Amino acid sequence: MRAVTWHGKRDVRVDTVPDPVIQQPTDIIVRITSTGLCGSDLHLYEVLGPFLDKGDVLGHEPMGVVEAVGAEVTAVAPGDRVVIPFNVACGTCVMCGQGLHSQCETTQVREHGTGASLFGYTKLYGQVPGGQAELLRVPFGNFLPIKVPQGPPDDRFVYLSDVLPTAWQAVAYADVPDGGSLAVLGLGPVGDMATRIARHHGIEQIIGVDLVPERLERARANGVEVIDLRDHDGGDLTEHVRERTGGRGPDAVIEAVGMEAHGSPGAKLAQQMMSLLPDPVEARIMERAGVDRLHALYAAIDIVRRGGTISLSGVYGGMTDPLPLLTMFDKQIQLRMGQANVKRWADDILPLLTDDDPLGTETFATHRLPLEQAPDAYEKFQKKQDGTVKVLFQP
Ligand SMILES: NC(=O)c1ccc[n+]([C@@H]2O[C@H](COP(=O)([O-])OP(=O)(O)OC[C@H]3O[C@@H](n4cnc5c(N)ncnc54)[C@H](O)[C@@H]3O)[C@@H](O)[C@H]2O)c1
Ligand SMILES: [Zn+2]
Ligand SMILES: [Zn+2]
Repeated sequence: MRAVTWHGKRDVRVDTVPDPVIQQPTDIIVRITSTGLCGSDLHLYEVLGPFLDKGDVLGHEPMGVVEAVGAEVTAVAPGDRVVIPFNVACGTCVMCGQGLHSQCETTQVREHGTGASLFGYTKLYGQVPGGQAELLRVPFGNFLPIKVPQGPPDDRFVYLSDVLPTAWQAVAYADVPDGGSLAVLGLGPVGDMATRIARHHGIEQIIGVDLVPERLERARANGVEVIDLRDHDGGDLTEHVRERTGGRGPDAVIEAVGMEAHGSPGAKLAQQMMSLLPDPVEARIMERAGVDRLHALYAAIDIVRRGGTISLSGVYGGMTDPLPLLTMFDKQIQLRMGQANVKRWADDILPLLTDDDPLGTETFATHRLPLEQAPDAYEKFQKKQDGTVKVLFQP
């Protein structure tokens, strides 16, 4: 089959690799019809290289049609239309029982002390072949696949794999009080969708911050008060947000940026130097050292009102990142974070994926491309060129 594979920093290719096969009686094989490109894939593209091997198949936002099922699979059958969550979760362990699928005890990667395995996401998360491919092997076939109806276009359902539950969890964890205010840092797919879900939940004041004109424009068109970070290079973003929120700052901030935030040039240099070291050394340093660009997280800490909540969706990777604990403690900040527990939220979201399309899923993608164009799409998504906000590959 054809699949998007990692070969090095900013080097992804489309290769012919062996077709996946059923390995366990509860496995299924899915023929992928749509599969998203995520901001998390950009971390693999740029800074997480030491945790990948050449040839690793990428991608964790797939949906498609069940092609084959193992002997013990009864929940789905060949021909069923399914979305596959990005967490590989068993559905039966203690963590899954609590809706913490990203901490699944059956698939935790104990070698690295990390949580549940993820599709297409480095050795830290199990090195499971990913879903930017023609075919995908999916374990836990009786639990993991989300069955969706035949008929409507893929776009309506594909974001159940990641963007929708991630944004849903971000808003849930933000816990904005009635009549309250929310700032969303980063208006990529996750931040943009979070503003839509926040609006749907009736949150009154939603402020979105980014520095890419078309991303700001998309949010503005959906009724979000937007702030262009480029107008606040001098560091007065906090003041500006406070002015709009009664002088205090918003009740909650969703940070949907992550470890490669615009800003913090010192950390950027650290990341670049790191990539010159041999892999095992680099991996060890990356795990131990603070190499993240913390600009957006620092902004969230600064902006949120006293006693407010930061809901962190953006992914970070360093172990010793410096955080301003004095400020965090003094401001009594509530900090909630983690990979999205996809299955935890799926039943809440499914009723919104209707013909009315209240979250705008069917116009969310800016690009629908054949898999063969993945190298170009990764580059344009990273550089924010050609209006690229959300890419769906159609293998
Ligand atoms: N927690 C989860 O389960 C989960 C799931 C999906 C994605 N993510 C993470 O969420 C983050 C966003 O992902 P995405 O798919 O929306 O991709 P993205 O990379 O396109 O979005 C990031 C956005 O932040 C903007 N930005 C950069 N620096 C900024 C700054 N200092 N202030 C404000 N905005 C800034 C960028 O212009 C971009 O629009 C990534 O870190 C990704 O890894 C987490
Ligand atoms: Zn993702
Ligand atoms: Zn589990």
